[in-house]
Amino acid sequence: MTEYPLFSEEKSVEAVNARMGDAVSPRMRAVMATVVRHLHEVVKECDLSREEWAAAIQFLTDTGQMCSDWRQEFILLSDVLGVSMLVEAINHRRPQGATENTVLGPFHVEGAPEYPNGTDIRLDGKGDPMRVQGRVADVEGHPLPGALLDVWQTNDAGYYDVQQPECQPKWNFRGRFRADADGRYAFVTARPRYYPIPDDGPVGKLLAQLGRHPNRAAHIHFIVTSPGFDPVITHIFDPDCPYLTEDAVFGVKDSLVARIEPAVDQQGWAVEWDFALIPASTLQPGPVAPSS
Ligand code: BEZ
Ligand code: FE
Repeated sequence: MTEYPLFSEEKSVEAVNARMGDAVSPRMRAVMATVVRHLHEVVKECDLSREEWAAAIQFLTDTGQMCSDWRQEFILLSDVLGVSMLVEAINHRRPQGATENTVLGPFHVEGAPEYPNGTDIRLDGKGDPMRVQGRVADVEGHPLPGALLDVWQTNDAGYYDVQQPECQPKWNFRGRFRADADGRYAFVTARPRYYPIPDDGPVGKLLAQLGRHPNRAAHIHFIVTSPGFDPVITHIFDPDCPYLTEDAVFGVKDSLVARIEPAVDQQGWAVEWDFALIPASTLQPGPVAPSS
């Protein structure tokens, strides 16, 4: 029988981590040892009371109970704590000049209609029209004909079609567009507006307790793909949004803030926006596994 160290306040981390079996994979061993070490550090550093720990467990229980087929409260928690953006950052270290990625969010729907370039995706006809156009290319500027742009955003009231299936047309503010022979694409949408992330659950309560609002800076979502290239999940942000520097999920990056100008025909707005993709093989290496 192995003799394990007995538990004490001072040796709590060692006592727990020593119990891992010999067959545990090196990665699992390293990650779990780190999780246990940091978790114990939190309890010690905050000198947590039993009531506080019970409240934390209740919060996690409520978070789990809020989850359903269409609501993922744990992802929302990860988003508002900046963890989703951190995981994106360390897994997508792109070279200079490549379009930066940001959070996917919970409202992407596979299979949006594919439209000819120039189509207006305001199926309800509401909102200030905004023409978005540009090029998809590699970082050297060579066009990527046939690249697919999957686009989605909220309606003019700040809700995705899937949040209001009874009052928005299906596929409202969603569409897929293919870059032409010069890599060019174009579509018409509404100028985006800020909107709150779902805040009627435990994560919303947590934000309120932290004195934080639930608003996402106004944005349009894109997934841009081209065979042999690393797909980019990204947004463009409205530079005039009052929440630009306080996005609830930390998704804003300088390089993703667009320039929105009055359209030349004075009918609404216009944005010129290019995407630069990198070959799938050139993603920078991921993080080094922590040692136990
Ligand atoms: C969104 O932009 O759709 C989104 C992202 C993270 C959490 C909630 C919504
Ligand atoms: Fe969004």
